[in-house]
Amino acid sequence: GKLCDLTGWWENDLGSKMHVLKVDSEGNFSGEYHTAVSSTDKPIQPSPLVGSQHLDKDGQCTFGFTVNWKKFSDSTAVFVGQCFSGDNGNEVLQTSWLLREKVDSLPSDWKATRTGHNTFIRTG
Ligand code: BTN
Repeated sequence: GKLCDLTGWWENDLGSKMHVLKVDSEGNFSGEYHTAVSSTDKPIQPSPLVGSQHLDKDGQCTFGFTVNWKKFSDSTAVFVGQCFSGDNGNEVLQTSWLLREKVDSLPSDWKATRTGHNTFIRTG
């Protein structure tokens, strides 16, 4: 298959699972994100994601996607990342994310954004 096609199932270091449906000819894609963790008290639910990837043929393309947790949280997350080949030739995604929480008022804006890193490997 095409190198660095994000289509398929991925799992990250937190145990979160991501299912990317078909990537179109422009590199646009959608899918579903099943987070393993949450900052809310409500039960976690699968959440829609939309993103865009470069279609470089070297297997090291960059990409970004947004997850809207609308079913259980009023937060929004964005991920940016790049595909790599791991030691065993397995596909690895190195990502950075921003998670924007809804706060009550402008004075609380300073605490509304978390950031971190996740590594994904292909599981399907
Ligand atoms: C929320 O807590 O408001 C919604 C769930 C957020 C899950 C975050 S997004 C970044 C990090 N990576 C994951 O796989 N899950 C957490």
